[in-house]
Amino acid sequence: MRICRFVSPAVAICLLAGTMAASAAAQQGPGEHHFPKPKNLKVLPKNLTGEQVRKIMRGWAGDLGQHCDACHAEYPDHRKNAHGRPELDFASDANPRKEMARIMVKMTMADRTDYIAKVKDLDEKADKEKQGPPPAPLTCGTCHRGHLNPEAYVPPRHEEGGPRPGF
Ligand code: HEC
Ligand code: HEC
Repeated sequence: MRICRFVSPAVAICLLAGTMAASAAAQQGPGEHHFPKPKNLKVLPKNLTGEQVRKIMRGWAGDLGQHCDACHAEYPDHRKNAHGRPELDFASDANPRKEMARIMVKMTMADRTDYIAKVKDLDEKADKEKQGPPPAPLTCGTCHRGHLNPEAYVPPRHEEGGPRPGF
């Protein structure tokens, strides 16, 4: 299972499931103080370090144009952090948007492995020179483009399109 594509291109790290266990062990250490080991991962690989999860989270937040609190709940006692802002309980599932995001992660993974990978196989057989640059990978940003909900696409007037039955 590849999850590198969930990380926005700006954060150019590529996490491969196979290499994760090794790098997880190697990366425990100084970062652990600031980024505690995740304890409630249900869709991401459970052996990710706190630091690796942070990088992925920054990618999601950027792709959706949100801050961390879009998906993460405050502590019930509304405690504040050192900057006087509400501290977030990242392991908590109290914010329903976190569960929505989990569904999105599963969908994006399935899209890549079950569908897009198959197009890529065919791509190799197609005439590369006519194809232009390689396609961008599917990320949260492919659909969301900096918005919590993807915006409706309205084709220019002279193109076909507009209201349609279902898809
Ligand atoms: C679009 C929703 C979304 C946004 C925005 C988001 N997160 Fe998350 N976060 C999740 C989901 C979903 C999980 C759980 C992943 C899983 O179940 O594998 C998670 C898990 C985590 C965890 C692991 C908690 C644990 O102990 O299991 C941390 C830490 C975290 N996020 C930090 C952040 C930070 C920091 C930000 C802002 C930079 C952020 N998140 C932004 C959805 C989001
Ligand atoms: C194939 C397109 C597509 C991709 C890829 C995608 N999303 Fe979405 N996402 C949608 C659509 C469409 C909706 C709106 C669903 C609805 O509410 O009807 C949505 C809704 C959401 C919502 C709920 C927003 C709300 O209404 O509160 C969250 C959170 C979310 N996506 C997170 C993510 C994350 C995180 C990723 C990447 C791991 C991702 N999405 C990838 C299409 C996509």
